[in-house]
Formats: sequence, C-alpha cells, structure tokens
Amino acid sequence: MSSKPTVALLCGGQSPEHEISLLSAWSVYQAIDRQNYDLLVVGIDKQGIWYNFGDSPDFLQERENPEKVHLSNHGRACFFCRNHQVVRLWELDSGEEFAIDLAFPMLHGANGEDGTIQGLFQMLGLKYVGCDQTSSANCMDKEISKILFRAHNIRVAKGICLHKKQLSDCDVPSLIAELGLPLFVKPARAGSSIGVSKVKSPEGLLPAMRLAFQVDDKILLEEAIVGREIECAVLDDRDSLVCPAPGEVIPHDEFYSYKAKYIDKAGATLKVPAELSQSQVDEVCTIAKDAFHALGCRGMARVDFFLSENGDWILNEVNTIPGFTNISLYPQLMLKAGLSYPQLIDKLLQKALASSNAL
Ligand SMILES: Nc1ncnc2c1ncn2[C@@H]1O[C@H](COP(=O)(O)OP(=O)(O)O)[C@@H](O)[C@H]1O
Ligand SMILES: [Mg+2]
Repeated sequence: MSSKPTVALLCGGQSPEHEISLLSAWSVYQAIDRQNYDLLVVGIDKQGIWYNFGDSPDFLQERENPEKVHLSNHGRACFFCRNHQVVRLWELDSGEEFAIDLAFPMLHGANGEDGTIQGLFQMLGLKYVGCDQTSSANCMDKEISKILFRAHNIRVAKGICLHKKQLSDCDVPSLIAELGLPLFVKPARAGSSIGVSKVKSPEGLLPAMRLAFQVDDKILLEEAIVGREIECAVLDDRDSLVCPAPGEVIPHDEFYSYKAKYIDKAGATLKVPAELSQSQVDEVCTIAKDAFHALGCRGMARVDFFLSENGDWILNEVNTIPGFTNISLYPQLMLKAGLSYPQLIDKLLQKALASSNAL
C-alpha cells in the first residue's frame, strides 16, 4: 500500500472549453511529482461520462486533435463513491475501486468551474484544489460577482443583466442610451469569450443578444471600457495571498475574442509582466486580493482588470480555474515571481490537503 496521497486529476468536461481543459491537464499531469503523489487521470467526455485512465492518459497526447479523442476507447467508465470513510473511484464494469485523497478539477466553464463539481466533492467529503462550491458559483456568474464587488467598493463596468424571457420586449434605444456605444454583450455564465460581442451600432444589439442567449439564459450588457487588459494571478499560499506583478493581454482583434485566445497564434500578445509603475502594481494587486476575499476564493484565481485611459482599475472578472498550460498567463506570472510550474502545482495540492473538507 502506498502512503502517498492519491490525486484524481479531472479534465475534459461538458463545457465548450473541453479541449482547453485537456491542454491544461496535460501540463498538470506532467508536473505532478510521482515521488509525492499517486495519480489517476479522469477524463470526462462531452456527454458527461467519466473514464479512468490511471496514470496513463494516452488521450492527452491527442489533445490538439480533439476529433481523434474518444475517451470510451481507452478509459474505463467510472464515478466517485463513498465507502465508509474513504472516497473511491469506482470502475463501473470491473467493479474495481481506487481510494482517492483529493481531486484536482482542471475543468473550465459549466459543470467544472461553476460550483457544480465542487458541490459533489463537498458531499463526498473529498478534499479538492481550488475554490469551493459557493465561491466558484459566484465567480462564474458575472451578474452576482458584480454585485459582490460593488458591495466591497471594487469598481466594475456599468452593466445591465437580462433574462431570455425579456428579449421579446426589450427596449433597444433605452439600453443604448444607458450604456452608450460601443457596448459589450456576453453570456452571464460562460468563458473563453464564447458568445461575447462588441456592438457598435443599434442594429447590432439584438443579434448579439441572441448569440449570447444561445450560451446562457442570462446575459450581461456592459459599457465598453477603453484601456488596457491587465491580469493578476492570486495564489492562496498557506495563510497569505501571493499576487506577483500582473501581466497584460494585448489583443490584435477588436477585443480578446475566442479566436484571439485559441485559434489565431498571432491573435494576442501576452506581456509578462505588464509595463506598469510600482505604485500601479501595488494598487492592482491590493484590489485583486480584495476581490479574492470578497468572493470567498480559495487556492487560486486569476483576477482580470481593465486599466482605463484615465488610470482607473476596473475589475472585469475572476476566473477560478484559469488556463493552466505551462505557457498560460497564470503559471507564467508565478514563474516570474520565482515559483516553477511543478512547485505551483505542489502548493495547490498541499493547500487542498490541508483543507477541512474531510469525512
Ligand atoms: N466592458 C468591456 N469593455 C471592454 N472590453 C470588454 C468588456 N467586456 C469584455 N470585453 C472584452 O471581451 C473579452 C471577453 O470578455 P470577458 O468578460 O472576459 O468574458 P470571458 O469570461 O468569456 O473571458 C475581454 O477579455 C475583453 O477583451
Ligand atoms: Mg475573460
């Protein structure tokens, strides 16, 4: 029997960010130190079926050709179960069970980053990396997080939230009078810029709203902020928060679109760190840490800001499971601050092991 804790690394998932999760999971998979941890990789397919790959997740090799990935070909269908005081990964066909000590959800978007799976971990009494169920759900919901930020005196863009049933009788001229043009339309609970549009004319508003409603029943219309996009990495290390100097995203598109993020390799430039004065760095890191507390985050979060033309910090969103390939912004910012990728992973696992979610 191994005395090392066994980590279940969960990846894939049902959200449109399935493939991005596989890219991040590959980096995490390689970085987990097998001298200190045993590892089981669980791939969740787009239908929501879970497959155990043990420590040989060959499907991650094909992560850049997702059409070739059929998890059912190599993995063994599985699910978590609680057996007395032990949480196990239970293989449905063979009936084999593997005790696990903690979960590392490297999942983005719905059912991964929105509190759903965190709720399952909590019910099982399984320790896990990252934010808990409530903070994950609050960070995922751009309407709720805006309300919480305002309550903590953190500045956000002016926005109006609408539900799908309001679409038929919404008053386009008054929405535009309120927010101005251009404005942004986005699903309230999504990520990777899926369903996000920049609207430049009154005729563009309804099509942009319909697009966002394809992704979520609740959408947000927001005034456009002219300025720079600055992103902070916050790590909950033991009892204090670490926030190194932030990075900057410079999209070469109209905004930081899905294409600029993942398709067009020249779609955006990432600057690590951003060119800012020391006092600007201090200011934004203080707000990032306040935001982390305001939303009750744990473990890690990437806190994204706009730096407006007149020098104001406007918080855009908090991502509780940010992109995590070894060239993603969050790990790069930590690396600049002296924390290697494997060290970062180890800190996240140690934080989760020290948490109190146990039977
Ligand atoms: N109010 C805004 N003003 C200016 N740009 C915006 C605004 N809202 C969103 N954007 C642009 O759209 C991108 C995606 O929006 P964001 O709210 O971050 O959604 P997601 O959760 O999908 O990343 C941002 O990175 C930014 O480039
Ligand atoms: Mg974003």
